[in-house]
Amino acid sequence: MVHSMMDDVERVLISTEELKQRIADMGKQISQDYAGKEILMIGVLRGAVIFMADLARAIDIPVAIDFMAVSSYGAGTSSSGVVRILKDLDETVEGKHILVVEDIIDSGLTLNYLLDNIKSRKPASLRMCTLLNKPERRKVNVHIDYNGFTIPDHFVVGYGLDYAEKYRNLPFIGILKPAVYEP
Ligand code: XMP
Ligand code: MG
Repeated sequence: MVHSMMDDVERVLISTEELKQRIADMGKQISQDYAGKEILMIGVLRGAVIFMADLARAIDIPVAIDFMAVSSYGAGTSSSGVVRILKDLDETVEGKHILVVEDIIDSGLTLNYLLDNIKSRKPASLRMCTLLNKPERRKVNVHIDYNGFTIPDHFVVGYGLDYAEKYRNLPFIGILKPAVYEP
């Protein structure tokens, strides 16, 4: 038998249909809030890519896109708060309406660093948008302007989120079977 990614999934937390519906609503809200303006969306690589692609198409005002890649020092699946920029923006930020797009806010440390960093480049406005929010593990207070779903403290994959670079292409948010993490 051919191994399918689905065999590794314990359960679906957020279905494809739920994602589609929620992202359509977020797009409408963002379009209203920024009516008459243009947005520069900054996606945080790599997890935000799939969400950002769908969100951008749910927005009906002009959207430019750019990306940043950051890495947090420290081991395992939790961030240390020390963030290093691996890939900086290609676009300038000054005077633009910036919307940072994240896959998930966990400790909040990555976002906290990113927002401070972008703020120092003098945008006209700065807001953030995340597909998922895991408030139970928050270490610093961050203001979330647009939140897709608040989820309990599970490690989730799919729709951009990975485990060891796998499962990003699952079309839903899911939880893996414990056996997947065993060596
Ligand atoms: P913070 O700094 O908020 O970091 O702790 C958020 C980043 O941590 C990763 N992360 C996850 N990745 N499933 C994942 O695939 C998860 O459940 C998860 N929780 C946190 C992710 O890269 C996010 O940008
Ligand atoms: Mg990330």
